[in-house]
Amino acid sequence: MVVSTRIKTIGDFIAKGDAVVDVGADHGLFELYLIAKHQNITITAIENKIGPYKILENNLKGLKNIKLSLSDGIASVNKETKTVVIAGMGGINIKNILNAHPDKVKGLQKIVIDAHRDIDIARRTIVNYGFRIVCEKIVFEQNKFYVVSEFKRSEKVHNYSENSLQIGHQLYKDELWPKYRDYLIETNNKTIEKIKDLDNMQDKVLKLMKMNERLRKYGKN
Ligand SMILES: C[S@@+](CC[C@H](N)C(=O)[O-])C[C@H]1O[C@@H](n2cnc3c(N)ncnc32)[C@H](O)[C@@H]1O
Repeated sequence: MVVSTRIKTIGDFIAKGDAVVDVGADHGLFELYLIAKHQNITITAIENKIGPYKILENNLKGLKNIKLSLSDGIASVNKETKTVVIAGMGGINIKNILNAHPDKVKGLQKIVIDAHRDIDIARRTIVNYGFRIVCEKIVFEQNKFYVVSEFKRSEKVHNYSENSLQIGHQLYKDELWPKYRDYLIETNNKTIEKIKDLDNMQDKVLKLMKMNERLRKYGKN
């Protein structure tokens, strides 16, 4: 089985004895990788859409120590669950999944995420639940960058800097940091250009609206 570097990296944050709940399991590629890596691991794969869920069922059928759940976010997570993986979705979705069941988040010890956008929103949400950022890793695959983050429950309150929350926790130590930084700057510049264009569009719209007013009155006064 060819496994993506991103999936492998998420798997690196899971220890042999962890009982893992994977939220947003899609077709179960992470489950297949983890089962091959740690034969005795227990994993619950949660998916909230029937299409991917049917493929998940098919891909994982007959495998030991795997439970499947067609349910939303962490709604079906039980009190024994200590480790949750939420990968391959946006930070706002991750925030909504956690905030939908704060009581269940309070019972967790470890959260591993791979937020594909708005990572800062996911980081802030998890830290506000009393977790510390243990480690973050940059992955470059098929011309795209990903950041995988591990959080663990902490007794101490950690006051993270804006750099840690917005950009990344000690990501400057990652060997891929210089490339990732350039990619972020370039992406931000593209967004800035688009917003500037929108400003121009507003000017153009205003000009055309004014012209229409003039056209309606033209020759009448
Ligand atoms: C892009 S896939 C990522 C699959 C896999 N986790 C990975 O990282 O490769 C995201 C999956 O999360 C599922 N998903 C999104 N929101 C969810 C939610 N609230 N509860 C359960 N699954 C969700 C989607 O249906 C989709 O199958």
